[in-house]
Amino acid sequence: MITPQTIEQIKSRIDIIDVVGEYVKLKKRGANYLGLCPFHNEKTPSFTVSPAKELYKCFGCGKSGNTITFLMEHDKMSYVEALKWLATRYNVEVEETESTPEQKQLQQAADSLYIINNFAQKFFEEKLFESEEGQNIALSYLKERGFREDIIRKFQIGYNPGNRDDLTKALLQNQFNRELLPKTGLVVVRNETELIDNYRGRIIFPIHNNTGKIIGFGARVIGKADKAPKYINTPENEIYVKSKVLYGSYFARMAIDKANECLLVEGYTDVVSLHQAGIENVVASGGTSLTTDQLRIVKKYSNNLTIIYDGDAAGIKAALRGLDMALEEGLNVKLVLIPDKEDPDSYVNKVGAAAFQDFIAKNKKDFILFQLEVMLKDAGNDVTKKSEVVNQVADTLSKINKAEDFTKLQDYIKQCSSLLKIDEGGLTNLVNKLKRDKIAKDEKKLPFEDANYYLQQSQQPEDVLDDNFLLLNQDEAHEKNVLRVLLEYGLRNWDEQKTMAQYIFEELEQFRFDNLQLESLFNEYKNWYDQGLQPDAKSFLYHPDDAVRSLVVSITVFPHELSQKWDERLEGMNIVNRDTSHYDVDMSISIFKLRKIRKLIEENQRDIEHAKYEDFVTLHQIHKHLKSMESDITKKFGTVIIK
Ligand code: UTP
Ligand code: MN
Repeated sequence: MITPQTIEQIKSRIDIIDVVGEYVKLKKRGANYLGLCPFHNEKTPSFTVSPAKELYKCFGCGKSGNTITFLMEHDKMSYVEALKWLATRYNVEVEETESTPEQKQLQQAADSLYIINNFAQKFFEEKLFESEEGQNIALSYLKERGFREDIIRKFQIGYNPGNRDDLTKALLQNQFNRELLPKTGLVVVRNETELIDNYRGRIIFPIHNNTGKIIGFGARVIGKADKAPKYINTPENEIYVKSKVLYGSYFARMAIDKANECLLVEGYTDVVSLHQAGIENVVASGGTSLTTDQLRIVKKYSNNLTIIYDGDAAGIKAALRGLDMALEEGLNVKLVLIPDKEDPDSYVNKVGAAAFQDFIAKNKKDFILFQLEVMLKDAGNDVTKKSEVVNQVADTLSKINKAEDFTKLQDYIKQCSSLLKIDEGGLTNLVNKLKRDKIAKDEKKLPFEDANYYLQQSQQPEDVLDDNFLLLNQDEAHEKNVLRVLLEYGLRNWDEQKTMAQYIFEELEQFRFDNLQLESLFNEYKNWYDQGLQPDAKSFLYHPDDAVRSLVVSITVFPHELSQKWDERLEGMNIVNRDTSHYDVDMSISIFKLRKIRKLIEENQRDIEHAKYEDFVTLHQIHKHLKSMESDITKKFGTVIIK
C-alpha cells in the first residue's frame, strides 16, 4: 500500500490542467478550461476542466472525474499505477506502508515469482533464438506454422530445451530460492529432493497480466501431442489465478478500446496469429468457460464481446456456458463459429487477414438468438422440451437487467417469441416474473452494489443537471445534495460560533441517510472533521475505495453549473448577496429533513389506520409533533415550491 503521506504529497502537487492538457488541447474559458472530449467524438468542445475543483466533466457524454480517474480511464491504468505515474511526474518519492507479516510474506513471494518468471522468459527466448536445438526444433516449427519473428518476439515466446534441467541449473546458479521454484511450475521435484525442468522440449508462451508482467506460462509440445498433454500450464499460485486471466489482454487492451470490441478465442496460437494478421483486439480464454472476473477485464475496455470458437459441438457448448454471466455483466455478446474443423489460427492462415475479417463481420450471430436456435433444433417436436426452451430463454432474457438495456430486451422478446411461435405478451410476463423473483432474491445484496448502480444511472448528464439539485423528486438526490454542501462549504463559517459542517451535524443529528454509501461518507467526513483534519471534496477524491471516489465526483459540481441553477431558481427573488452558500446549505438540509419527515408522517398514518385503540393517542401525538416540524420547515421556504 502506498502511504497516505505519499498520496497527500502527490495530491498537493497534481495539476489537472497539466495532466489532462497532455492529452486534450485545452483553452481557458472563465475559471475553467474547455476542450474536445477524449472519451467521445465531438466537433464542438464540451469537455470542461476545473483547476479549482481538480475535476473534469464532459457535458456531452457525461464522463467526469479527477486526475487519477482520467489516467485510469484514458490510459487504462490501475489506481496504484496512476498514483505512481503521477509520483514520477511530480518527483514524489513513493513510500509504501509496512504491511502485516502475512501481507509482507505474500508480497515477497509474489515479487520473487515475478522475478523468477522474468528470468525464465529471458532464458527461454535466448534458447529459442540462439541455441542450435532451439533454432532447429522450435523456431523452425514456429516458422513452419507461419509465425513471423517480430510477432514471436512481441509475445516473448521461447523454448525450454529437452535436457533434464537446463533451466533448473540456471535458476539455482542465479541464487533463486530453491523452495520457491516448484511453485512457479517451471520446475518439478523428482524423487523427493531432485529438481528438474517441467517444460522440457516445449515451446513457451508467457502469460502477461494487464500491466505486462509475466505471471505464468503455457508450454506446448512440438508437433503432434501423442502421449503427453499438448499444453502444460502454470499451476495456480500467488500471482497466477487462472480465472482472472485472459491470455493476450496486455497486448490487446488499447486495440479493444479503439475498436470498441473484444474478440474472444480459445487458444494461445489463435491470439498470436490474429495479431500477426493485424487483428489485435483479441484475447483467449484457454478453452475453459468464462468467469465473471474475466468478463470484467473485457468490460473495462468494451461492452461488445465477440466470441470466435470452433464450429464443433464442444466449441459451441463452451461458448454458451459463458452467456448468462456475460449478459448479467451487461455485455453485448455476438458469436462467430469457424467452419470446417478450423480454428481462428488455422483459418486466418488459410484465408488471409482480409477474408478473415470479412468472414467475422458477415457471420456474427446474436448470441441469444443463436442459443435459441440450437435449443429449438434439439427440442424438435417434443412439447415438453419446447416448454423447457421457453423457460430457458425467459431465464436468459431476465438477466438483461440494466435500465439502459430496456429497448434491447424488448427487441429480444419480439424476436424470440416469433422464433418460438408464442405470444409476445406471454413471454414478456414470464420474463418480468423471473426478474421480480430475482430482485426479491437480490434484496439482501451489498449496499455498495446498489450505490454503484445508482451512480451509473446518475452519471447521465441530464440527470446531473436536472435532478441533483433542485428538482428533488428522486429519493436519493436530496441525500446526495446534503453531502454536496457538506463537502463544498463545510469548512466555511456558518456564524461566529460554528462552521457550516457543525451546523449541518447539529441539524441532522436525528436523521439517517437511506443510502448506506452516503451514510458512510457522511460519517467518514464527520470522523475526519472531528479529528481536526479539515476535510473537503478533494480529500475524498483520492480515497482508495473506487466507489467513494466516484460518489464524490458525482456529487461535486462545477461552479457554473450551480450558479446557473441558483440563478434560475433565485430569479425574481431579492437576493443581493451573491454568496449563496448559506441559502444553499439551509435549503439542502431543509429539503432533506422535509423528505424524511414526510416519510415518517406517511408511516405513522399507516400505523394509525391499523392501530389498536390504546395506541391511538400516542400515534396521534406523534402525528402532531411531526406536522409541526414539517410546518417549521415549510415556513422557511416561503414562496419556493418544493417538488
Ligand atoms: P487447442 O487444442 O485448440 O490448441 O486448445 P490451440 O490453442 O489451437 O493450439 P495449437 O494451434 O494446436 O498449437 C485451446 C486452448 O486450450 C488450452 C490452451 O490454452 C489452448 O491454447 N489447452 C489445450 C490446455 O490448457 N491444455 C491442453 O492440453 C490443451
Ligand atoms: Mn490451433
